[in-house]
Amino acid sequence: MNHTIHHDKTNNLAVITVNTPQSSASFLNFGARFYQWYTPNKEGIMENILLSLDTPESLLNDFAQFGAMVGPVAGRIKDGQWNGITLERNAGEHHIHGGSQGWWNQFWDYRVEETPHSTKVIFSLVDTYSGYPGPIHIENTYEIIGAKIDLTTSVRSDSATIVNPTNHAYFNLSGDAKRTIREHELFVASKYMMETKAHHIPTGQLLPVTNTGYDFQTTRSLDSALNQLENGLNDAFLLEKQPTQLILQERTSGRKLCITSNRQAVILFSTTGFNDSFTVNGKVMSSELGLAIETQELPDIVHHPEWGSIDLASGITKEFKTVYECLLI
Ligand code: BGC
Repeated sequence: MNHTIHHDKTNNLAVITVNTPQSSASFLNFGARFYQWYTPNKEGIMENILLSLDTPESLLNDFAQFGAMVGPVAGRIKDGQWNGITLERNAGEHHIHGGSQGWWNQFWDYRVEETPHSTKVIFSLVDTYSGYPGPIHIENTYEIIGAKIDLTTSVRSDSATIVNPTNHAYFNLSGDAKRTIREHELFVASKYMMETKAHHIPTGQLLPVTNTGYDFQTTRSLDSALNQLENGLNDAFLLEKQPTQLILQERTSGRKLCITSNRQAVILFSTTGFNDSFTVNGKVMSSELGLAIETQELPDIVHHPEWGSIDLASGITKEFKTVYECLLI
C-alpha cells in the first residue's frame, strides 16, 4: 500500500491518493470527497469510475455534491422544519443536503493511517456552520483494501440534533465517463420505493416496485428503466438486509460495482436533465452521465416517525457504514 498527498496551497485543496495493486482512489479535504477511483476494465486498463470535477474552481463552487459527504441530513426536509427549529430553506420552501453550509461545503481535517492490510484516509470535522444544533463531531473514514472501500461515518453531538449522512459519489463504470449510464445494468434489493409529490417531498406511502420502472429486483438495463421513467431516477428505495444490496455493472468495460450498507435506504439519482457548462473527466456535464448512489435513512424521515428516527442524543456515538467493491463481471 502507499499513499501520496498533493496540496494545492492557493486553494487549500489536499488530494490524498491511495494506490493498491487493484485500484487507485483519491479523496479531497473539501467536503471529505471520494474524488476519483481508478479500477481496471476487463482488459486491465485503469480508468476513473467516478464523475470528478476537473478544476479547483468547479470544486469550490460545486452545488451538486460530487463525491462529497453530505450532512448533517441528506435529502429534503419539508419546509425546513424540525422540532420547532427552522433549517435553511435552500431548495425552494424546503431544506436539502444539510443546507448551503453543509458538510459537503466545508474543509475537513485529514490524516492517513497505514494498517498491515489497508490504508485509512480519515477526515474529521466539528460542524458549527450548518445551522443544526451541535457542535456535531464527525469522523469519516475511507478504508481502502485492494479494490474495496469501506466507508464509516461516526458522529457525536454536544447537544441533541439529527444526523442522516450520505456519500454523494456519481458513478459511471464505462471508465472516464465515455458512455452514459444507459448502457449500465442495475440490481437493487428493494421491494418498495418512496412515493413523492411536488419537489420530491414524500407522500408518506411506500409503493411496491414490482413490474414498474423502479423494479431492479432482478438485474436490468438502465436504458429500459429510464425509458419507463419520464423524469429519470431521483428516488428513494427501501433496502432489504442481504449481503449485496446493490450491483451496478457495465458489460462493455466488464466492471461490476457491489454495494452493501447498514443504512435503511438508497437514493438513486440518474442526473436526467442535468446539463451544465462545467466539465467532469474532461467532458461537459450532461444528462445521464452518472448515477449517484446515496445510502441513507429515508428522506424527510423527521416527519414520518413510522419509518424510524435520525435523532442523535447528546454524547451518543452513531456509526454509518457502506462498502463499495469494484470487480469484473
Ligand atoms: C437530489 C437531487 C439533487 C442532487 C444534487 C440528489 O440527492 O435528490 O434532487 O439535484 O442530489 O444536489
